[in-house]
Amino acid sequence: MVAIDGPAASGKGTLARRLADRLGFAHLDTGSLYRAVGLAVIRGGGDPGDAAAATAAARALHPETTPRVLADPALRGDEIAAAASKVAVVPAVREALLAFQRDFASNPPGGARGAVLDGRDIGTIVCPGADAKLFVTASVEARAERRLKELRDRGITVIYAAVLEDMRERDARDSQRAVAPLKPAADAFLLDTSSLNADQALDAAISFISSKT
Ligand code: C5P
Repeated sequence: MVAIDGPAASGKGTLARRLADRLGFAHLDTGSLYRAVGLAVIRGGGDPGDAAAATAAARALHPETTPRVLADPALRGDEIAAAASKVAVVPAVREALLAFQRDFASNPPGGARGAVLDGRDIGTIVCPGADAKLFVTASVEARAERRLKELRDRGITVIYAAVLEDMRERDARDSQRAVAPLKPAADAFLLDTSSLNADQALDAAISFISSKT
């Protein structure tokens, strides 16, 4: 089982997907669970900052329906990313999502030989016994550039300064929260992707994993 953590737009999602493909493992993007909770609160007319509404939405996610919920394209918007980072500070929300993540890691769906989970607290809290842990990072400027390109490619008009500011705010909320803050596990391999492309990041991750397993 491979745990990948890191901040937004660090390249961890792409790396996790490609690694899972290469290894024949199932992949779970755990950020989409928090996004699903944020989206459910917003759709219900609530405020993602309301801990009771967020907890109720997290407890309402059922393992059988969760894969369909996670495929909703509405999860990908930046408004939902911000909502996700607000619901993610609530301890009862995190607790409610733990079982699904741990079950995915220990019984990967589709008969896969293993699992790759990516998020913020996989190596520290969700799967502290993972066979290999990676902490993927990049400078905040490099991550803002990537997010800017991604948004522009989708035809969304944005300015760099606003994207950088959003990225800094989300980093602060994720790293400074009391429960399961974003931080590398003591035994994680630190992979800085500021000047690496996706192939180079994959090669570095594969060499590390081969050395561990
Ligand atoms: O990875 P992604 O950007 O989709 O995550 C959205 C938000 O969900 C993050 O900013 C973070 O607050 C939260 N999250 C978390 N723990 C995880 C995955 C995501 O707190 N394991």
